[in-house]
Amino acid sequence: MSEKRKIIIDTDPGQDDAVAILLALGSMDELDVLGLTSVAGNVPLALTTRNARIVLEVAGKKDIPVYAGCDKPISRQLVTAEHVHGATGLDGPELFEPTIPVQDKHAVDFIIDTLRSEPEGSVTLCTLGALTNIATAFSRAPDIAGRVKELVMMGGGYFEGGNITPAAEFNIYVDPEAADLVMKSGVPIVMMPLDVTHKVLTTKERVAKIAALNTPVSKFVVEMLDFFERFDIEKYGSDGGPLHDPTVIAYLLKPDLFTGRVCNVEIEVNSELTLGMTVVDWWHVTQRAHNALVIGDVDADGFFALLTERIGRL
Ligand code: RIB
Ligand code: CA
Repeated sequence: MSEKRKIIIDTDPGQDDAVAILLALGSMDELDVLGLTSVAGNVPLALTTRNARIVLEVAGKKDIPVYAGCDKPISRQLVTAEHVHGATGLDGPELFEPTIPVQDKHAVDFIIDTLRSEPEGSVTLCTLGALTNIATAFSRAPDIAGRVKELVMMGGGYFEGGNITPAAEFNIYVDPEAADLVMKSGVPIVMMPLDVTHKVLTTKERVAKIAALNTPVSKFVVEMLDFFERFDIEKYGSDGGPLHDPTVIAYLLKPDLFTGRVCNVEIEVNSELTLGMTVVDWWHVTQRAHNALVIGDVDADGFFALLTERIGRL
């Protein structure tokens, strides 16, 4: 048995974040989840922190610590997405007040301390929301960027365009300055943009297979998806909604499900029109440094088979 992969999940739950966390929790023989760090994004920090604890409790994993992070972007006002996720951020299932405590330590301090204390190159950062916590940690402790094994992020879009503006995907748009700093940090980055997440749609057939697990966790997931997908179905006329964040965890578990290209990615931080756009030099037309593996395609059926099997373990 190879050593478990140590990960920190930085998240703004969000129904798709919740499914990503459950995928990780169903894979504990491969992943060592050192902690969840919450960030403001889909909904304000108090709710993303609460939702992270709810998900752990639904999965019966009360021993995983939750650290609350930044409540607003580095230098902008917070933009949220209740129109997608509902007022709680986790609309769909009946929610409850979690009993899991929030750690006293700030998420940024947890990220810094963990990267400094764990062996160099042994911790993977999995980011499912705005990059505010990560960028703040890198700014406050420049020594830690070189200690990160890999940063696998859900964010950006190129050929697919944006989802919060015509040019920008939500996680990047919320905190473009943070994304810019992280993209220039030198950390090995794998980027899951809308170009790939829009290919993993929660079709009726796929959701039915999750429902057929007939467990309390699968019921919770189906109720979240029923709510979450309505927005994208109405917007795109698709069969199901894009299950963005679980692609990050699936990449850790089965990277061969995905294909992409190493290239340069830069973030627009000035233009009002294209603020938060991920400018991907997919065709290598510039000499800019290749700073990310940009994922463009996925075996969607393989992804859902993995997700369903792992949720079935909880
Ligand atoms: O644009 C999709 C991303 O923004 C997902 O991570 C979703 O949870 C929201 O955070
Ligand atoms: Ca998210």
